[in-house]
Amino acid sequence: MDGNGRWATQRGWPRLVGHRKGAERVRELVSASPDLGIRHLTLYAFSTENWKRSTEEVLGLMSILGRYIRREASRLKEEGARLRFVGDRTRLDPKLQSLMQWIETQTARNDRLFLNVAINYGGRDEILRAARALAAQAASGDLDPAAIDEARFGAALDTWHTPDPDLIVRTSGETRVSNFLPWQGAYSEYEFTDTLWPDFTPAHMAAILDRFKLRERRYGGVAQ
Ligand code: IPE
Ligand code: MG
Repeated sequence: MDGNGRWATQRGWPRLVGHRKGAERVRELVSASPDLGIRHLTLYAFSTENWKRSTEEVLGLMSILGRYIRREASRLKEEGARLRFVGDRTRLDPKLQSLMQWIETQTARNDRLFLNVAINYGGRDEILRAARALAAQAASGDLDPAAIDEARFGAALDTWHTPDPDLIVRTSGETRVSNFLPWQGAYSEYEFTDTLWPDFTPAHMAAILDRFKLRERRYGGVAQ
């Protein structure tokens, strides 16, 4: 979800206004996802690199997240969405961590939409944490290094509960992946759109999905 800052700056508004508008778009997309045929949705909300931003912006983003959790809890339940977080949450404010834990528990029985929000997430950081965890098990004799295959490694990642993404969309005209799901996205299709995230509606997503459905995916094989 990229482009919140530029969206606000273009209008002469503080960047946080763009982030707030972006959160509204999240709500719309989450509500529209089941009808769009999306069962698993992972949103990149805050990266391991985003700590470099001003304290004001970081705190503002964290407070938008806390408010989203509090305000959306009942809607997520009504809509059958199960919300989980990926990323290293240990660095986050303990109050926010308990709120995250709370909403995960509150929505744990829902299965219409599996919604993941990536907070303090970085793909390399995730891979390192998984590698460390597996190395510790191997060092203590609980795991044979030869038994570490793709399935085992994938199960040590934050996204152990989610299938690899079919499609990864980046908004705002940047054509980089920026550390988002590098392991899981190995065979994903990518779509880049110039639309800034605060302008990105379910209709934009529907158009992207229509294009995606026409793509032929061979996973290294040959066309049938
Ligand atoms: C949202 O857009 C991404 C978040 C970290 C929430 P940006 O804040 O990166 O917006 P731009 O790239 O400055 O326009
Ligand atoms: Mg950006």
